[in-house]
Amino acid sequence: MERLTVAIDGPAGAGKSSAARLVAKRLGYLYIDTGAMYRAFTWAMLQEKIDIGDAEAVRALTERIDIRLEPLEDKCRVFVGEREVTDAIRTQDISSRVSSVSALAVVREKLVQLQRNMAEGGGVILDGRDIGTVVLPKADLKIFLTASVESRARRRYLEVQAKGGTETLEDIAASIASRDDMDSHRAVSPLRQADDAILLDNSELNLEETADAITDLIQQRCR
Ligand code: CDP
Ligand code: CDP
Ligand code: CDP
Repeated sequence: MERLTVAIDGPAGAGKSSAARLVAKRLGYLYIDTGAMYRAFTWAMLQEKIDIGDAEAVRALTERIDIRLEPLEDKCRVFVGEREVTDAIRTQDISSRVSSVSALAVVREKLVQLQRNMAEGGGVILDGRDIGTVVLPKADLKIFLTASVESRARRRYLEVQAKGGTETLEDIAASIASRDDMDSHRAVSPLRQADDAILLDNSELNLEETADAITDLIQQRCR
């Protein structure tokens, strides 16, 4: 079967990464988590104490940083140089800063280049905010995956609770709404549904059903 280039965009908590991972595993595709790359860049800025307003230091970091994704079964391990940051980039501290960092054009230029290189050859699923609009405007299949803020907040709340976190549902809903707002209104590559993307609202679907819907779309496109 033909191996497609698949773009999945949408807001935080829509289920992009979990669904993309499942689909990639089923079809033997490579899953590329572009959000993890913005998180890794944000992690490196914190590590090196680089101020977001220091344009020169940010640019210098884009020139020397080495961000790598290594597929491991259905997961995506993340490295900055030799250092594995797979778990370190998932903290609330990073989540609250990543949208400001990802609004910087110089950072996007660097990461988009890496993402295009990784997507070469097909058989890949990328998820993020600008995959269908900017990174891979010629992707074979584009999906805009979304769900209501309430259902997205509830999903993240369950995740946090499972990990023993103490954030309330209200805190999480507010943080999701604020990130959606920043991601959708930034000047560079805002979160937007591509004209040729298929809209999939999974407020009423579970993860398995979401993955089924995406797999069906890929298989229809392959025929
Ligand atoms: O998993 P979650 O939805 O929380 O976020 P993520 O996919 O890990 O992305 C973290 C942040 O990176 C987003 O809120 C965006 O600000 C940024 N991002 C982006 O600007 N462009 C992408 N292609 C992917 C992520
Ligand atoms: O990558 P993104 O931020 O879009 O979302 P995610 O991290 O894949 O999904 C957030 C949480 O929602 C995960 O715990 C998923 O298992 C869950 N989820 C769900 O309960 N129902 C869905 N239809 C999709 C995701
Ligand atoms: O050398 P080439 O232009 O083929 O490679 P690239 O620019 O690194 O692009 C790698 C992948 O991204 C190719 O599969 C292109 O189809 C895709 N791409 C795209 O869809 N739209 C663009 N404007 C640039 C690249």
